[in-house]
Amino acid sequence: MPASSNIHEVAQSVAPEARVVYVDHDPIVLCHARALLISAPEGRTDFIEADLRQPLAILSGAVRTLDFGRPVAVILTAILHLIQDDEEPYQLVRQLVGALAPGSYVVISHAAGDIGNGDMASMASRLNELMAQQTVPRAREQVAGFFARLDLVEPGLVRVPEWRPATAIDAKGPAQMWAGVALKLALKP
Ligand SMILES: C[S@@+](CC[C@H](N)C(=O)[O-])C[C@H]1O[C@@H](n2cnc3c(N)ncnc32)[C@H](O)[C@@H]1O
Repeated sequence: MPASSNIHEVAQSVAPEARVVYVDHDPIVLCHARALLISAPEGRTDFIEADLRQPLAILSGAVRTLDFGRPVAVILTAILHLIQDDEEPYQLVRQLVGALAPGSYVVISHAAGDIGNGDMASMASRLNELMAQQTVPRAREQVAGFFARLDLVEPGLVRVPEWRPATAIDAKGPAQMWAGVALKLALKP
C-alpha cells in the first residue's frame, strides 16, 4: 500500500522529471496506487498489474514509460522472499537485469534467514502456516546471488539499517533483512 515517502516522491524531490513505474499483482494495491501515487507534473508515474514471476510482461509494460536505452533503477524491496525457490527467483532477476542499460542500478532488500537467533525464520514459518503467500527467508550468500555479475556499491550487502544510516543509532536498528544496491556496468562474464 502506498505510504509516504513513495519512490516517485523521493526520486522527483531530486529530479522532478523522473519517471517511475510501480508493479504489483494485487489489484487492490494498484487501485490505491493509482489514486495516491500522483506524479509531479514534470515527471510521470505508471502502474502495471503483473506478476514478478513473469518479468517479460513487466518489461513490456514498463517500456510505455521508461527508456531502456538509458539507465534505470529496478527496486525489488521486500518482494523476492515471496518468490519460492521453485519459481526461479534468480532467473527472473537475471531477465530484469538483462534488459537494463549500463549505468543502471538494482536495489534489493530481502528477509534474512541467518541474522539473529533464527527469529525471522521462526516468524516466517508461523506466518506460512496462516497465509497463502509463503515467505522464504534467505541467507546472506543466497541474497548475494541476486547480485551476480553486478557491482555492489558501498557498504555492500548489509542489514537494512546498516545501509548508509543517518546516525550510528539508526545502524543498530533490529531489522532482520539484507539490503544491497548494485550498479550494472558491462555484465561480468
Ligand atoms: C511486503 S510488500 C513490499 C512492497 C514494496 N516493494 C515495498 O518495499 O514497500 C510486498 C508486495 O508485493 C506484492 N507481491 C507479492 N507477490 C508478488 C508477485 N509475485 N508479483 C507482483 N507483486 C507481488 C504484494 O501484493 C505486496 O504489495
